[in-house]
Amino acid sequence: AQIVSAEFVKSSVETEACPSDGSPEFALVGRSNVGKSSLLNSIVKRKKLALTSKKPGKTQCINHFRINDSWYLVDLPGYGYASAPHELKQDWNKFTKDYFLNRSTLVSVFLLIDASIPAKKIDLEYASWLGQNQVPMTLIFTKCDKRKKKKNGGKHPEENVQDFQELISKYFDAVPPWIMTSSLTNQGRDEILLHMAQLRNY
Ligand code: GTP
Ligand code: MG
Repeated sequence: AQIVSAEFVKSSVETEACPSDGSPEFALVGRSNVGKSSLLNSIVKRKKLALTSKKPGKTQCINHFRINDSWYLVDLPGYGYASAPHELKQDWNKFTKDYFLNRSTLVSVFLLIDASIPAKKIDLEYASWLGQNQVPMTLIFTKCDKRKKKKNGGKHPEENVQDFQELISKYFDAVPPWIMTSSLTNQGRDEILLHMAQLRNY
C-alpha cells in the first residue's frame, strides 16, 4: 500500500457539499487535540497537508483529501472542545453526525482515542453512538509513543488501550477492529494503509 499522491480537494460544512464523484472515503474523528490532522499527515507522509495545532479546535470543516486519485481521507472537526462557543459546537455536532448518517461513500469512520490518558466518558459515548447507528468503525489509538506520567493517570498506553476495550465491549457484540499508532514514530501507519485497502476491496 503506497501513497503516490495526496492533495487537498475542498472544505465543506454540509454533507451535500462534499465531493460527488463516488470514490470511497475514510473519516478521521475524535476529541479535539487527539491527533486527527497529525495522523492524516503521517499516513500520507506530508508534514503539513492537514493543519495541526497545540490548541484544540483547529479543524472546523469536513476536509476532503484525495489519495492516489482514487479515494479520500477526510479530516473532521474534533468533539468535546469545551471552550468552543456553544453555537459553533452544536453546529459541528449537527454536520458531522449528518455526514456519518448520510454519506453513502463513507467506508469506515476511524475513531481516534488518545492512548496516553485514561478512557474518557465522551469517547465511550461517541463510540456507542456510532455503534447504535450502525456506522462502520475502526478504533485508532493515538500518541502510543508517550510514556506513562503521574498526571496522566500513571498508566502505559498499552494499559489504557486495554481498559478502553474492556469498557467499550459493553456496547458492542464484537469489539471493532483497532490499531495502535503514533504520528511521531509512524507506528501503525502501514497497518492503517493495509486495513483501508482491505476495506476498499470489499
Ligand atoms: P483538532 O483539529 O483541534 O480537533 O485537533 P487534532 O485532533 O487534529 O489534533 P492535531 O493533529 O492538531 O494534534 C494536536 C497535538 O497533539 C499537536 O500538538 C500534535 O503535535 C500532538 N500529537 C498528535 N499526534 C501525536 C502523537 O502521535 N504523539 C505525540 N507525542 N503527540 C502527538
Ligand atoms: Mg485537526
